[in-house]
Parts: sequence; structure tokens; C-alpha cells
Amino acid sequence: MAENKKMLRALAGEVLDVPPIWMMRQAGRYLPEYRATREQAGDFLSLCYNSDLAAEVTLQPIRRYGFDAAILFADILLVPQALGADLWFVTGEGPRLSTITTQAEFDALKPAADIHETLSPIYETLRILTGALPADTTLIGFAGAPWTVATYMIAGRGTPDQGPAHALKDQNRTVFDALMARITEATIDYLSMQIEAGAEVVKIFDSWAGSLKGDDFEKYAVAPCRQITAALKARHPSIPVIGFPREAGEAYVGFARATGVDCVALDNSVDPVWAAANVQVDGCVQGNLASSHMVTGGQALVDDTRAILRAFAGGPHIFNLGHGITPDADPDNVQRMIDTVRKG
Ligand code: CP3
Repeated sequence: MAENKKMLRALAGEVLDVPPIWMMRQAGRYLPEYRATREQAGDFLSLCYNSDLAAEVTLQPIRRYGFDAAILFADILLVPQALGADLWFVTGEGPRLSTITTQAEFDALKPAADIHETLSPIYETLRILTGALPADTTLIGFAGAPWTVATYMIAGRGTPDQGPAHALKDQNRTVFDALMARITEATIDYLSMQIEAGAEVVKIFDSWAGSLKGDDFEKYAVAPCRQITAALKARHPSIPVIGFPREAGEAYVGFARATGVDCVALDNSVDPVWAAANVQVDGCVQGNLASSHMVTGGQALVDDTRAILRAFAGGPHIFNLGHGITPDADPDNVQRMIDTVRKG
């Protein structure tokens, strides 16, 4: 079965004439069909927990564009919610959570083993997708990396510099380390269940890895990713893992070797020619077109797409954006990117 899945072939290290392509946030507000289904569900979280509708929005970009991979429709913040944090979304602003900054607040969290009751609809979404996807489309599961999830749990919201999480790390290392360990354990169990439900690849999103400097990058980005990857591969030896330490910069170098991931996803602050020489030497890379091209389109989109294809042509590569597509993107620009990748 794996032979006709380009995504799995690239992850296994094969160099393909035309790389597989999918897009972060490919099911999202830039698509009218997504907005309609989200309306039907009521709100974003209700959509995440409605297995039939979550499967439907996962399939929408596959039907429209024929991407090589489908990513489970869910959110990295469902894990904090399953651990007992309150979670809600403020329209136009983003997520809000109850905060964890004291030992007492940490002690009120549920054990990692108790997350599955909340998360069982997510596993059901994957089971539905396993029967509904085209035979050549790979199903991706995902979770947030412990540091990124912790930044939201500590601050109770997204933050420009992850200040509250850095403050807790520096001022109350006991609670910070306990929180990181709890998230890590929950993430291993969550991803393991996703694999059992049909995920063929898992991706670990460390969106805020870029704010971890020096030793902190090793301790809180590399080590948890290594621990999660090793535990998953012990339980599911053939599962490929994609790591995304966003804005890691120079620290992308050696990340695959240090963590054991099969593929490193690159954000678009990284020059593809540099990344080919310094990151792709260790295996598959994913990326890294600026998502702003999906808004602006034109010849620049085509030129940058071609430059990325050229830079990564000598090794295993999965074409993607450097970060999620934004709600103001034009669906026609997505088609133009795909045509450039597939037809030159
Ligand atoms: O990529 C996909 O299509 C799969 C689904 C997915 C979502 N979020 C759906 C979503 C994935 C993989 C995520 C990951 C995620 N969620 C990350 C890591 C990746 C990244 O973007 O850096 C983070 C940090 C989150 C947390 C989160 N969820 C934020 C900060 C927001 C609000 C910002 C925004 O774009 O509105 C969300 C909401 C969210 N998650 C939406 C979607 C489609 C928009 C919700 C809506 O429909 O209103």
C-alpha cells in the first residue's frame, strides 16, 4: 500500500521527481466549504469534537485540490483541555485557557492516562478518514510539542514572546518541569492512539521553539521531541515522525539526528539553499514557501515555488508552506502553487 503513497516514500528517504504536497491549515477559513461546515457545527471546538464534520472538513481540501496528504482536523490545544484546562476561542483574537502557574493549579490537572475520554471523538475522526480517503492520500495525525502547548497553558493565551512561560521556567522550575513532563506523557499516549486509529504519519508542532535559546533549546525542544519520537517508535516501529521546531534557525541543523524524527519541517525564514546543504543532508525536509504568497499570488508565487523545488531537488522533500495558510488567502493561488509543483 505504501508504494503508491508519495508522502510515505519521501518520508522513507526516496527522492521523487515531483515531491508530495500538502499545506498546513489546508482545511480552514480561506475555503468557503470550510466556513459553511463550521457554521453547521456552531463553533470551532464543536467542529473539532464532531467526528463526522471534522472528517468532512479534513476531506474538503483533498477533494478540491488532490493533495498527497490529509491532516486530521483538530487542534493542539485539545490536549490541555483533556488534561482539565478550560479552553475557549475568542472570535478575532484566538484561544483562551485557564492558567497553570502554581503547584496547586498543576495538581488539579488530570493524569495523562485520563485524556482519552475527552479525545475519543478525535480517534473516531481518524477511523472515518481511514475509510474515506483516496488510496494514494496519506493520513497525518498531530500534536503540539510540549513547550508550545506549555506556553499556552501557562499564559492562558498566545503570546508574542512566550514571556509567561519563560518566567515560570526561570522562577518555578519544579512546576514548569512537572507541566512539561505531564504534557509529554499525554502527547505520547494521544499520538499513539491516533496511530492505532489510522494516522500513518505524525507531526509534532513546536510553533514557539524559536524563543528557546542555547541550552533551553536542547532541554525543552530537542529532548521532549526525542522522548516522544522514541516512545512512539517503540510502540509503532514503522511510524514516520515529522518535527517542526518553527523558527529554530541555526538549530535546525542536526535536529533530525538529535531527535530521531524522519523529517524536519522548515519555516520560511530559512533559505532553502542553505537548508538543503545543512538540514536535508540528514534526511527528508518539508517546506517552505511563505504563506503570504497564497494571499498575493502572481509571478512571485511561481518563482519562489520553483526556487524551493530546485533547492531541494537533490534529496527527499515534501512541498509545503512555511506556516499555516491564512484566512485571507485566495483559493486560486493554492491551485497555482500545486500546478507549479506538479507541472513545472
Ligand atoms: O493544519 C490543519 O489543517 C489541521 C488542523 C490544525 C488546526 N490547528 C486547526 C485550526 C492544526 C494542525 C493546528 C495546529 C495549531 N493550533 C498550532 C500549531 C501550528 C501553528 O499554527 O503554529 C497552534 C499554535 C494552534 C493553536 C491555535 N488554534 C490558535 C493560535 C488558533 C487561533 C488562530 C487562528 O488562526 O484563528 C487556533 C484556531 C484554529 N485551529 C483554526 C483552525 C482551522 C481556526 C479556527 C476557526 O475556524 O475559527
